[in-house]
Amino acid sequence: MRKPIIAGNWKMYKTINEAIDLANGLKREFFKLDFAKVDAVLCPAFTALSEVAEVLNETDIGLGAQDVYWQDEGAFTGEVSPAMLKDAGCQYVIIGHSERRQFFGETNEAVNKKIKASLKHGLAPIICVGENLQERESNQTFKVIQDHVQGSLSGISADDLAKTVIAYEPVWAIGTGKTATPEQAQEVHKYIRDLLANLYNQEVADSIRIQYGGSVKPENITELIGKPDVDGALVGGASLKVDSFSVIVMRASEVVK
Ligand code: PGA
Repeated sequence: MRKPIIAGNWKMYKTINEAIDLANGLKREFFKLDFAKVDAVLCPAFTALSEVAEVLNETDIGLGAQDVYWQDEGAFTGEVSPAMLKDAGCQYVIIGHSERRQFFGETNEAVNKKIKASLKHGLAPIICVGENLQERESNQTFKVIQDHVQGSLSGISADDLAKTVIAYEPVWAIGTGKTATPEQAQEVHKYIRDLLANLYNQEVADSIRIQYGGSVKPENITELIGKPDVDGALVGGASLKVDSFSVIVMRASEVVK
């Protein structure tokens, strides 16, 4: 049984005070939540991490960053290390989000280094993979996914893989209101799991959680997560409001597979 994991990717939204308000609002709502049934993670911008960590202190709500650099320290202006994220209170870090790949030229090689560095420091990477519209329309979805998965995981052991979460995010569904159908999501999630079984072994492939991301909202979470290989969601827009994100997490905790 894989426990669903819902992460809210706040992207470049929320000042420190706004982030504290949102985290407090969610904390109040999650008071009723059964954390044995779902993991909930908030991923604010770097500037708000330590304040949100304080709000979440002594709760079961997880904290994640949206990116990391792979060096421990050094003259790398503008970058943030895994140890700094741990210090700020993070347990998770999103790596290889399509916006990083698209706007900041992030390659599989960089993603791979970031994953290794995060694991070394005890952070759980949420590794993003996904095809864009042109790739889907030219029937290259599986090829792109294979390239992202294999490239990102190069040299990572089965034991370390088990500590990660994979997020399948079709780029054409991010922030567009266009969600992949539950069947489309299931098809790719199954493909990823089979690929991991081939690259590693069935046991680790069966244990790893694969989130879906791309216009997830209260109206579609139940159906998406009802699919056998969809183990959670990475939520952007709908994670920025207490109402929508708390309903998504509640509904995910109620899905019986
Ligand atoms: P969205 O973003 O839910 O706004 O589509 C998802 C993501 O980019 O992680």
